[in-house]
Amino acid sequence: MQRFYINGGNQLNGEVKIQSGKNALLPILAGCILVDGIVELVNVPRYTDIDAMIEILEHLGAVVTWNDDNLIIDTRILSSHDVTIESAGKLRASIFTLGSILARMKLAKLAYPGGCNIGLRPIDLHINGMRMLGAKVNEKNGFIYANGSNMNGGDIVLDLPSVGATENIMMAGVLTKGTTRIFNPAKEPEIVDLQNFLNKCGAKISGAGSNLITIEGVKSLAKNIKYEAMPDRIVTGTLLIAGAMCGGKIVLKNVKAEHNQALIAKLAKSACQFDIKDDKIKIYRPARLKSFGEVETLPYPGIPTDLQAPIMALQAISEGTTILIENLFEARFKHVPELIKMGADIKFKGNVCIIRGKEKLYGAEVKACDLRGGAGLVLAGLAAEGYTTIGGIEYIDRGYYKFEEMLRTIGADIRREDC
Ligand code: EPZ
Repeated sequence: MQRFYINGGNQLNGEVKIQSGKNALLPILAGCILVDGIVELVNVPRYTDIDAMIEILEHLGAVVTWNDDNLIIDTRILSSHDVTIESAGKLRASIFTLGSILARMKLAKLAYPGGCNIGLRPIDLHINGMRMLGAKVNEKNGFIYANGSNMNGGDIVLDLPSVGATENIMMAGVLTKGTTRIFNPAKEPEIVDLQNFLNKCGAKISGAGSNLITIEGVKSLAKNIKYEAMPDRIVTGTLLIAGAMCGGKIVLKNVKAEHNQALIAKLAKSACQFDIKDDKIKIYRPARLKSFGEVETLPYPGIPTDLQAPIMALQAISEGTTILIENLFEARFKHVPELIKMGADIKFKGNVCIIRGKEKLYGAEVKACDLRGGAGLVLAGLAAEGYTTIGGIEYIDRGYYKFEEMLRTIGADIRREDC
């Protein structure tokens, strides 16, 4: 087991280059199943979730090799349509392979997905989406059995703009004859990135990022292509919040500021100043942070639920009282008791949190219970007075690659140690 050891209170100064994001790369890796060719993904950080998705692809018969930081995925020959309990249980994105496996191989057998324990996380929208395209789908003994031999394009109206269901149905439509239209899709930038990747492979998709996505089915995606996924907007947001909490001046490179407009607007109102030019964002905070007042997580382009825990850590030291509402997941407050150990004044009932900002937090021994909650605890430790140890950092490694090294380059006193 490992933990982070943080000596808090340092200002953060310097530059960080943001890398491709987990939530862009995972659906793209699932999309590789559609390709009868070789895909080279450029500059892929080794998030542990990437390893888990590679395991799934290899079990299907793909040949996956690393070439420095590039990942080469050869899916010309696939020999299985199964996703096992061991592999599926490691991450939510395992369910994102359903659409691709069905479209390419016409049969699929998937164990239920795993992922951070932040709520029930049903998969009904994924299953119903496949059925709306004519697939026969049964759920039995913890497995999903699907037969896609009679699939046809069709119209699908999502009850809610689910990111994964949108991506899954998009991929199912790529090799399904006829036209598939997705109404009320999610509009996250990762979906636009998936559309760009699949179209580069020969798919015919339009409308990602809008209220209607249209997929014209094609016979095959027989191409060899190179692709670099978009920069990680959640890591970008996490570092912007770190800069706001710790003071100093940091510059984030290889970013798209428009992916974090909602957060930037809130930070600017709270006392932060920005210098945004091309693919760079500089943030500094000349005065004491003021509470956001009211903040709620929403589908894109609203405040992302994946930044809720980092924002909570920020509000814990911002002047005033914050009402924070988590609209996306019903159990995404596991970091609250840990922040309270550090001196935060937080109460919550249901999906509403009340945070009374304190002058400062104090170091303590805390534990990450999920990926983004763990990131919030790291930020709290960086800004706190004294020493903080954070256990459960295997959760954090799922979506932040060498997080402690990245933070050390801008002046944080943090190290990883065995415990
Ligand atoms: C994706 O998860 C992300 N994961 C999550 O990031 C992110 O928090 C989430 O989108 C919301 O932005 C990946 O992309 C790998 P949803 P996903 O389907 O697709 C309900 C992280 O920390 N729902 O948009 O699972 C669901 O319960 C992770 O990087 C159904 O009811 O999220 C939730 O309340 C955490 N039925 C809401 O929709 C379904 O079939 C949004 O979930 C599917 C979802």
